[in-house]
Amino acid sequence: MARAIINGNRSKGTINRNIYGHFSEHLGRCVYDGLFVGEQSGIPNVNGMRSDAVEALKKMGIPLLRWPGGCFADTYHWRDGVGPRELRKKIVNTNWGGVTEDNSFGTHEFLELCRQLGCEPYLSGNVGSGTVQEFSDWVEYCNMGGQSPMAEERRKNGRDAPWNVKYWGIGNEAWGCGGNMRPEFYADLCRQYAAYLRNYSREHPIYKIASGANVDDYQWTKAVMESASWCIDAVSLHYYTLPRNEDWSHKGSATEFSRQEYYATLFRTLYMEELVENHSRIIRQYQGKRKVGLAVDEWGTWYDVEPGTNPGFLYQQNTMRDALVAAVNLNIFNNHCDAVVMANIAQTVNVLQAVILTEGPKMLLTPTYHVFEMYKGHQDARQVESYVETALTGEAEEYKVPNLHISASQAPDGTVLVTAANLDDAAPAPLDCTISGLGKIEAVSGRVLSGQRDACNTFDAPERVRPAAAGGIKAGEDSFSAELPPCSVAAFTVKMR
Ligand code: AHR
Repeated sequence: MARAIINGNRSKGTINRNIYGHFSEHLGRCVYDGLFVGEQSGIPNVNGMRSDAVEALKKMGIPLLRWPGGCFADTYHWRDGVGPRELRKKIVNTNWGGVTEDNSFGTHEFLELCRQLGCEPYLSGNVGSGTVQEFSDWVEYCNMGGQSPMAEERRKNGRDAPWNVKYWGIGNEAWGCGGNMRPEFYADLCRQYAAYLRNYSREHPIYKIASGANVDDYQWTKAVMESASWCIDAVSLHYYTLPRNEDWSHKGSATEFSRQEYYATLFRTLYMEELVENHSRIIRQYQGKRKVGLAVDEWGTWYDVEPGTNPGFLYQQNTMRDALVAAVNLNIFNNHCDAVVMANIAQTVNVLQAVILTEGPKMLLTPTYHVFEMYKGHQDARQVESYVETALTGEAEEYKVPNLHISASQAPDGTVLVTAANLDDAAPAPLDCTISGLGKIEAVSGRVLSGQRDACNTFDAPERVRPAAAGGIKAGEDSFSAELPPCSVAAFTVKMR
């Protein structure tokens, strides 16, 4: 029996709901097909947004959506995507498959999607190939309520009220597809751009996110913080989990993988903790009066594309292995909520570690979707310290991982949510969980997502992997026990008195 302790006397603060954020790029079938089908489509939609996807994302509690990229953002000129659709420029999506981008989904459509989802928009501006003026105009176009050239342009395009977009990314991966910049050069550019991204209302100040490091490029975070920390609110970090990190041309299949690859994937995803700790230490070291957060605005698994699909579209299936990856990362972000202000899994629909897959009118929810839905009670809750006794498990010595991974929080109404993953794909994990400092336990219920490590939902069997009620929970006044099946993610809701 593994012992877990939830210590209500210690907390790192509130879990920012934006940790449960998502990312949608003009890439493959994420935006077009996945989210936007157009008003004329036979697929049920509201103002062009597919209703099944919108409903599912709302149910999952999506708090924030980042758009339009990714690499695409640094080739995107926002004016191409506003005004009458028939007059919009058709461009080539040079990053992703060289397909025609007809710009039918632009600023107005994206903000309409966020309205339907009830989530915050996060716009990523073009620093790599755009201008300061263009970016500054975009902010004015979205946020200026009174009279101004951009506000007039917006009104001509059918929108009177400003959207008051809060979150703005100053470029994306400036070290790579966003301009191949050196950190010092980017840091100076970031200062320049930040100067012209204005607040247009006292009640709605904007939040500026600097393009951050690739994985463990600590020099990048240091250079940006040293030079630009006074004019930004957060620095980003991108880290993708690949089963075989050493070789991007053979990342491995999403569904056909060995036991060793399963553990190697989990081992590599656990590295996120070290990255979060190290980058946030640098942020703390160089921040001045202005508190700067860490925004992990791209994370998730990256495998070889599904056989027969466009290699530029990054379409991959999603299994219980991905559910474990999601659980581990979300636990890490919860447990570092004093540093992590935002995280965005890549990408919402049909791309990389998607929560939704679509095929024409069909839609399915992936195992990763269910983890987000089971964890949604952590949003805006008070993180509480948690500890679990673990044993090492795995195939190869170099990829051993702890068998259990946990986080916990208390909601404003007193309810405690304990989320725990059993990474071991063969052995169940009996758990005895003591809750201290939060009152007495009144009742415990639980849900569990489990299956073979390669179990996935398909369009023929869309409900193969889905949460079930956790059986065999025994609750006392101060503790409860339950058994986690092999390869599972569980969420226990504990009512306190
Ligand atoms: O998410 C796919 C790509 O990964 C993004 O466009 C880019 O920012 C990252 O390299």
